[in-house]
Amino acid sequence: MNREDFPLLWEGVYLDSGATSQKPLQVIERIDRYYRNENANVHRGVYELSAKATVLYEEARERVARFIGAVRDEIIFTRGTTESINMTAFSFAEPLMQPGDEILISHMEHHANIVPWQLLCERTGAVLKVIPIDRNGNLDRPALSALLTGRTRLLALTHISNVLGTVNPVKEIIAEAHEKGIPVLIDGAQAVGRTKVDVNDLDADFYAFSGHKMYGPTGIGILYGKKKHLEKMRPYQSGGDMILRVTFEKTTWNEIPHKFEAGTPNIAGTIGLAEAVRYLERIGMDEVEAAEDEVMSYALEKLGRIEGLEIIGSPDRRSGAITFTLGDAHPHDIAHELARKNIAVRAGHHCAQPLMNFYKVPAATRMSLGLYNGKEDIDKLADALPEIREKFKL
Ligand SMILES: Cc1ncc(COP(=O)(O)O)c(C=O)c1O
Repeated sequence: MNREDFPLLWEGVYLDSGATSQKPLQVIERIDRYYRNENANVHRGVYELSAKATVLYEEARERVARFIGAVRDEIIFTRGTTESINMTAFSFAEPLMQPGDEILISHMEHHANIVPWQLLCERTGAVLKVIPIDRNGNLDRPALSALLTGRTRLLALTHISNVLGTVNPVKEIIAEAHEKGIPVLIDGAQAVGRTKVDVNDLDADFYAFSGHKMYGPTGIGILYGKKKHLEKMRPYQSGGDMILRVTFEKTTWNEIPHKFEAGTPNIAGTIGLAEAVRYLERIGMDEVEAAEDEVMSYALEKLGRIEGLEIIGSPDRRSGAITFTLGDAHPHDIAHELARKNIAVRAGHHCAQPLMNFYKVPAATRMSLGLYNGKEDIDKLADALPEIREKFKL
């Protein structure tokens, strides 16, 4: 599906979209056109080129907002999911924290949704609490309910696990947290390019994601935040464009979202991201999800039949990734052997060491899907693995 739109999908098989997706020509050409014909700084110049760049930049914000069911003021451009989460920690959570208050995350988080909270706890005396998971890789819902207490100041949870592929029932969980007055940040890094996300319908307080995992460029990300939160939050960085008025005595802040976008932003990245959104909209997110689900079911069945291959987790609903071990073969050897056959997968701890520790595997191999993968890619992977297993048999 749509393989011909992606110039870098060479003869080989790209199964590492969980790390970063390939980019369609439409996105590449849009960035090229911007630098050739439209480049200028935004929110500054009065000349036509600058006015046009500003319009393109703000139109990109509108498009991203519409795509996820938000309004433009609620979209802050960042460098990626990591920065979006750090911004929420610094600007929203930190001023609320008293010693002994709690931040709640889950056992299946990416390091980007663990470490900022740990540092916040060090700075404030708050406590990091962790929702356990079961062996299948589903959240332990009764434990989650018990951990949402009067001391919880924020629940920060991944929408889709980058290792297990678990799709968490975030809408239900947000509703439960809200009943107790607890705001929720969702890490949507693995979700936005795979499934329809409507932050309004989810009622998420914050939703963080990255352009480069949804067929857009690197270095551009999004933090969605409810207006009522963003208006109260302190700036994340300070400098140009985030101010209203500066004197040596006092500075006042620009309105949202500009209050959070200090300095010259990634204008080309933003325009490229808007083109990626347009690309996804043209296909339709229902179509994107259905196509991936079909390849995922095929992959689960096909890999499940390979002797010695153990898939980590068996969540109720899986999307995006399958992580596995294969007999005695080391994941780096597997990835290396696959690379020799032009099959790109990821090996290692996948930036989720606590999760890997839970399954008692220091490293594993992960294949992750993009909208350009078909069953023939899975066949090539499945054909290569038994040979590798034999080669590395102890
Ligand atoms: C679930 C999840 N959260 C956060 C991140 C970090 O995203 P980025 O590196 O784009 O900031 C990733 C990237 O792999 C991820 O999979």
